[in-house]
Amino acid sequence: MTENNNILTCKQVFKSYPMGAVRLEVLKGIDLNVGRGEFVVVKGASGSGKSTLLHILGALDKPDKGDVFFEGKKLSAFSGKKINEFRNRKIGFVFQFYHLLDELTVLQNVLLAPMVRAGAIGWLVGSAKAKKSALQLLGELGLSERTEHRPYQLSGGERQRVAIARAMINEPDVILADEPTGNLDSETGNGILRIFEKLHSAGQTIVMVTHDDRIAQKASRIIRLADGRVAPG
Ligand SMILES: Nc1ncnc2c1ncn2[C@@H]1O[C@H](COP(=O)(O)OP(=O)(O)OP(=O)(O)O)[C@@H](O)[C@H]1O
Ligand SMILES: [Mg+2]
Repeated sequence: MTENNNILTCKQVFKSYPMGAVRLEVLKGIDLNVGRGEFVVVKGASGSGKSTLLHILGALDKPDKGDVFFEGKKLSAFSGKKINEFRNRKIGFVFQFYHLLDELTVLQNVLLAPMVRAGAIGWLVGSAKAKKSALQLLGELGLSERTEHRPYQLSGGERQRVAIARAMINEPDVILADEPTGNLDSETGNGILRIFEKLHSAGQTIVMVTHDDRIAQKASRIIRLADGRVAPG
């Protein structure tokens, strides 16, 4: 029962956070459809709830009210196991501050997701193949010479490319990216932009929070959050 070609849908999503005795209402009835293959850019002032929305879309957080649907199915009805599968296989997250593990090498950081996906026994069988895919992906992102580095030994742009490789490795249906160029100089940011453009041309569905107007020009659609809702126009 997929609605049209929508891959992710939000219906009347509300989210608030406790603030002392009161609650801070951040999302106040978000309605949103993301079509397969779309590149949706989310804009809005700082504090308008962009990261909150992205976390809810990727099931990293739950709405207080309202529903998120993946391919027409309610996330809130998923079992714990299914929600983990959703996060691991269907969604690839790219965060502003990379969130890489400094204890692991670049290659190991990318291999973490397929390792979780395979489980202990599966990993015995599948690790060689996963390693090959990870090395290929890192190569495509210009990181062949960096696979044994640790994240702290990399530049910001390199770290963000590792984070993109990690998001891509399980071939997710949707990439959710939260200001992926926010911490990069404009030239490095352009490189990251080109990677997302290329992914989009290859059919990847992307939802990206960004203040960057150069990126917004490449989007299929721009939505703006204001006053807890998707602003008209
Ligand atoms: N865990 C939390 N507890 C309390 N308040 C929170 C929490 N997370 C976010 N908020 C508040 O909710 C509001 C929206 O936060 P969010 O991070 O979604 O904004 P944003 O649009 O991503 O902003 P920015 O552009 O600065 O990243 C902010 O005012 C923030 O202070
Ligand atoms: Mg944010």
